[in-house]
Amino acid sequence: MTLNPTVLDVLPADLDVQRLPKHVAVIMDGNGRWAQRQGLPRFMGHRRGVDTLKQLLRCCKDWGIEALTAYAFSTENWGRPMAEVEFLMTLFERVLRRELQEMVDEGVQIHFVGDLQALPNSLQEEINRAMVATQHNTKIKFVVATNYGGRREILQACRAIAHKVQQGELAPEAIDEGVFEHHLYTAGISHPDLLIRTSGEMRVSNFLLWQVAYAEIYVTDILWPDFNRAAFHLALHDYQKRHRRFGKVEPEG
Ligand code: FPP
Repeated sequence: MTLNPTVLDVLPADLDVQRLPKHVAVIMDGNGRWAQRQGLPRFMGHRRGVDTLKQLLRCCKDWGIEALTAYAFSTENWGRPMAEVEFLMTLFERVLRRELQEMVDEGVQIHFVGDLQALPNSLQEEINRAMVATQHNTKIKFVVATNYGGRREILQACRAIAHKVQQGELAPEAIDEGVFEHHLYTAGISHPDLLIRTSGEMRVSNFLLWQVAYAEIYVTDILWPDFNRAAFHLALHDYQKRHRRFGKVEPEG
C-alpha cells in the first residue's frame, strides 16, 4: 500500500523541477556551537546532526535529487580531543548499523569516500557491509566523506597514476581529466552542483577540491542541527536564481 504523499514530500511549488541540482554536497558545520548554545555537551550536537542528515537525505530523495554527499569527518578532524574522535567513530558505526535496513528498503545507494583504511576495523566492516548491501539501489546516491581530505585524494590519485606510468600501463600523454577523475575516491559519482555550508563559515575546508570546481556555493548562518527542510528549500531557491555559465558567456539576445 502506498500512502498519500504529505505536503512535505512534494517539491515546493516555487521550485522548478527541471532546474534542481542533481548532486548536493553539505559541509555540516556548527554541531558543537549548537550544543553549547543549548547548554549541552558537544556530542549532543553531533547526535542531533545525524537526525538532520537523515531528514535531508529523505528530502533529497522525495524531491528528486540524485545524489547527496556529506562531509562527516575530515583528515584534519583527528586533531580534535580523543574523546570526541572516539565518540564520532562509534556514532558512525552505530548509525550505520541502525539505519542500514531502512536505506536498503528506501533504495539508497551508500558510498564512503576517504582514506577508509585508517578507520577502526569495526567501522570499516560496517561500511563494507552497507556499501555491498545497497550497491544495486537506484533511488539516490548517498556519499559519506569520512577521513576525507581533498588534498590527500588528489595526491593518492597522482601516486596511482604515476605508478601506472612507471609500470608502462599508461602513457603520460593519455592522462586527461577523465583518467584523473577515474583515480579519485569519487570515481563514477557526478560533481556536486550545489555546495552548502552551515554555520556561516566561508571556507571549503579541503572538501572535494577537484569536484567543486563549478559548484554553486551557498553559505547559511544556520547551525547544522537546525538545517531543516525549510532551510534546504531556501538554499534550492537561491540556487535556482543563479546563472551557471561554466566560464562561458551567455549568448546575447
Ligand atoms: C562539524 O561540527 C561536524 C562534524 C565534524 C561531524 C559531523 C558528523 C555528523 C553530523 C554525523 C554524520 C553521521 C553519519 C553516519 C554520516 P563542529 O563540531 O565542527 O561544530 P562547531 O564548529 O560548532 O564546533
